[in-house]
Amino acid sequence: MHNIQEIIETRDFIISKTDQRPVIGLILGSGLGSLADDIQNAVKIPYSEIPHFAKSEAIGHANELVIGELNGKIVAAMKGRFHYYEGFTLDEVTFPVRVMKALGIENVIITNACGAVNTSFNPGDLMLISDHINLTGANPLIGPNNDELGTRFPDLSDVYNKELRSIATKVANEQNMQLQQGVYAWWSGPTYETPAEIRMIRTLGADAVGMSTVPEAIVATHGGMKVLGISCLTNMACGILDQPLNHDEVIEVASQVKVKFVGLVKGILKEI
Ligand code: HPA
Repeated sequence: MHNIQEIIETRDFIISKTDQRPVIGLILGSGLGSLADDIQNAVKIPYSEIPHFAKSEAIGHANELVIGELNGKIVAAMKGRFHYYEGFTLDEVTFPVRVMKALGIENVIITNACGAVNTSFNPGDLMLISDHINLTGANPLIGPNNDELGTRFPDLSDVYNKELRSIATKVANEQNMQLQQGVYAWWSGPTYETPAEIRMIRTLGADAVGMSTVPEAIVATHGGMKVLGISCLTNMACGILDQPLNHDEVIEVASQVKVKFVGLVKGILKEI
């Protein structure tokens, strides 16, 4: 487990790189990292240079923290994230969220590419996460609790903050953009699900399934931050269509929705 001293060292390192003080955190999912390219006065810090950050080699990610201005707000954007399926501990996966909190960030927008379980959704749709189901049995808070960071038994009744969700819905309406809303199930990966698992996940009440987001959202909630979750549905989940899934398709569809995604997030930033 990282300790508070390490969080402070990392925060101080980041502060030493720029005078800009971020107020919103962004975690950019597979194929969605290009949002960081629109950041003005960008200071880019490769994860490999950031003390106590794990090193990520996941395909489709640039792996840098980008700090700068996006639509009038100073943001700290993670271009590339650490995934549980890569073998990182959940403490490593979520450490950047602790650092965001230490930087003074109170709102974090967590994004991902995921599979559509709800058959009324389509590849290329964006979905506001209303709630999650943790199917992994893992939890980033397992271990000794540091009361300075948050409470031992956090309440998860409003992880995906209602107020932020209504801002996102309003922005999508203004932009005449269809924005789905639903429950995200966290699957450890790296295998995609089987058709039987997708039927189970649908029965359990999830609308989408993916391999990220939930650990970061739990730690942000533990730290008292507000979370907005946005999923890009890149494919119908396994077994819905008579075709195999592959990562290239995920990246391809995510980059096709880039303009829509960037427009939505920028609109939201203005309103937060
Ligand atoms: N399942 C899990 N994770 C995913 C999927 C999926 O179908 N698509 C993109 N990430």
